Formats: sequence, C-alpha cells, structure tokens
Amino acid sequence: MGPPGVGKGTQSQRLSGEYGIPIVATGDMFRKIRQDVSPLAREVQEYMDRGEYVPDDLTIEMALSRLNEPDTKKGFILDGFPRTVRQAEALDDALAQDDRHIDHVVLLTAPNEMVLERLAGRWVCSTCGRVYNESSNPPRLPGVCDVCGGKLVQRADETPEVQRHRLEVYEHQTAPLITYYQGTKRLEVLDATKSVDEVTNELRALLNGVVKERA
Ligand code: AP5
Repeated sequence: MGPPGVGKGTQSQRLSGEYGIPIVATGDMFRKIRQDVSPLAREVQEYMDRGEYVPDDLTIEMALSRLNEPDTKKGFILDGFPRTVRQAEALDDALAQDDRHIDHVVLLTAPNEMVLERLAGRWVCSTCGRVYNESSNPPRLPGVCDVCGGKLVQRADETPEVQRHRLEVYEHQTAPLITYYQGTKRLEVLDATKSVDEVTNELRALLNGVVKERA
C-alpha cells in the first residue's frame, strides 16, 4: 500500500523476480482493459482519467478472479489492491475459503511533494511494464528498456492535475484501510523516502522473516 508514485510497482517488480511469485497489480489490469473497445473499457477509462477509484464490485471481481489462477498458489504480491475496506474484507473472505491468507501488509510512506516529483519523472516500458525514473532510476539508454529493449512511455492517465487528485482520493479513501490493517496487526510501515535499493533491502528483511517463520 502507499500513495501514487511512492514506489509500489518498482518494489513489486524487484521482489517478484527474486521470490518467483507473480504481481497482481489492479492498476496494470485496468490499464490493459482500457485499451479495449467496449463499454467496460470506456467506464474504466473514465474513472482512471479522473483519478478516481474504479467501483469496488468491478475491482473485487477482477482481482479475486486473478487470484484463482494457478500461478498464485505458492504466493503473490498485491500492488494497489485492496484500496478500500470493502476490498480488503472481500479479499480476506476469499482467501480464507481457499485456506490462504495475507502474511504482511506493507505501507510505503513519503511526503506528497516527493511522490509528485517521482511521478513527473516516471517512464514505463510499453512492452514489459518495467518502471524507470529519469533522475533516480534511469535506463542505461534513454527511452529504451534495459530488460527487453521496449520503448519507454509515460502513462496515459498521468497529467499533474490527475496525479494530485489521485493523492487526495488516496488520502480520503484509503485512510480507513490503514486503520483496518492496524487493527489486524498485519501492517508494517516502511519509510520510502530512502533510495530504491534501501527500500528493497528493508522489504527483503521483512519477507525473509516470513519465509523463515514458515520453514
Ligand atoms: P495504480 O496503477 O495502482 O497507481 P497508483 O497506486 O496511483 O500508483 P502508481 O502506479 O502511480 O505508483 P507506484 O507507487 O507504483 O510508484 P512507481 O513504482 O511507479 O492505479 C491507477 C488507477 O487504477 C487508480 O487511480 C484507479 O483509477 C485504478 N485502480 C487501481 N487499483 C484500484 C483499486 N484497488 N480500486 C479501485 N481503483 C483502482 O514509482 C514512481 C516513480 O518513482 C518511478 O519513476 C520510480 O522509478 C520512482 N521511484 C520508486 N521508488 C523510488 C525511490 N525509493 N527513490 C526514488 N525514486 C523512486
């Protein structure tokens, strides 16, 4: 969890490779859907372009159906889901039915000015989705993905006004979710103002604890 631009996608990509588990990122799933020509795609596009959350029913159905796929059975990283208490409750119920549960909820934090600056410099690979930043995490060759050679682009839902509104929506709608997870004692808060590597190291330390507990 964490505000837009705090580094959720960046960290998920690093840990997914290391632990060999998939990322379930509802933002990426919605970005794929919005490319279609359908009433659903139009609806999703309208919410995203306004910087608003897509309604819970649709989001929950999409995320839970992804979590039914076999590659998630040995673990997964959720990025950007759940974002509301209703989504969190639906997630907990669905996992419990399958004898699974969430080990850890990590909240990445950084001040608004910092996340807005990170978003302004973000570039994403149009082929594999790898995230870069023109100052903090540049590609080796400008405009070209280090991993797959794909073209780097900026997201369609990314004007500065929309980014600022997404922050407001996050603060308003996701605050109750933080309280929800604090109540279940699963919440870990990490300072994401540090470098990408430092944040990865802290996350790794946290997850290694989980893996040892299970062994
Ligand atoms: P989504 O795609 O999930 O966007 P978001 O949560 O707003 O977060 P971002 O992906 O923009 O940022 P991030 O935290 O992943 O940062 P990143 O790693 O890219 O959602 C988009 C939309 O989809 C929503 O607005 C909504 O409409 C809809 N949606 C999605 N899920 C939903 C849900 N559950 N319910 C309802 N609606 C939903 O990093 C940003 C930049 O910073 C990069 O350039 C990166 O290189 C750089 N960076 C990262 N870490 C560091 C660091 N430590 N130091 C310096 N730079 C860094």
